[in-house]
Amino acid sequence: MSLSETAVAQPSASDRIQQHRRYLMCKPAHFTVSYEINPWMHKAIPTDTAKAVRQWQTLYDTYLSLGHEIELIDPIPGLPDMVYTANGGFVIDGKALGVKFSVNERRGEERPFMDWFASHGFEVTEPIAAQEGEGDILLVGDTILAGFGFRSSIDSHREVADLFGREVVSLKLVNPSFYHLDTAISVLDPVQGPGGVDKANIAYLPNAFDDTSRGILAERYPDAIRVDDADGDVFGLNSASDGRNVFISPRAKGFDAQLRERGYNPVHVDLSELLLGGGGIKCCTLELRGGTR
Ligand code: ARG
Repeated sequence: MSLSETAVAQPSASDRIQQHRRYLMCKPAHFTVSYEINPWMHKAIPTDTAKAVRQWQTLYDTYLSLGHEIELIDPIPGLPDMVYTANGGFVIDGKALGVKFSVNERRGEERPFMDWFASHGFEVTEPIAAQEGEGDILLVGDTILAGFGFRSSIDSHREVADLFGREVVSLKLVNPSFYHLDTAISVLDPVQGPGGVDKANIAYLPNAFDDTSRGILAERYPDAIRVDDADGDVFGLNSASDGRNVFISPRAKGFDAQLRERGYNPVHVDLSELLLGGGGIKCCTLELRGGTR
């Protein structure tokens, strides 16, 4: 659908309130697949950097056109995955926890991201345990969901809890194709409702988690959208939301319908070229919460 189209009137559509977002993005000027660190990456398949930049630009323009604010970090030659800024850290209340990659190929990004936070007024904490930023750490209402199993270590969850003073719920990822938490959970409505009522809601891919974690999700989020494997396979869950507009892959047809039923407005952005690196919309989007401008 195009931006000008809005969701078909749904009973609950008026309940969805758009929140202002401030995001950190990185233009994929040096994007390519020169190593393989997840099942989506194949060095033998050619990449088209110009196409990646065009698709990324569409995401950037889409956010801006809806009134969101975008900060940019300069892309660095030789760091082709820097476009996936969700992995650059985790930021709440003006405090930025830096990233410590478990994969050597991306360790060169750690310092540039921490330097960026420091020079933009964020209080930076250097991580101790391996932890891949908002790729594996998601804020839902006042609770932090943290993934482990592939990249971030479970030891990092204690650091996250101590630094941000919030409850951290550990969730185990078991499917290598969904190796970061943001490929398996989409935070749709990350706001506290009036009177402290937690209206926060999520969508998730049940098959990406072990039984224990699936049980935790079912109990905590009985109203969550459970997304089918077909939509998960096209990285449908790797989406950003402002509480009303949900930025998703145009290929996630079932998820699109589920969102409309709940009164959200799906906005389609195709990042097919960046999927060759194993990333999508959310991977290219780091939320900056708090801090000075
Ligand atoms: N090629 C990158 C990696 O494997 C993709 C990162 C995707 N980012 C994300 N937030 N899921 O690290």
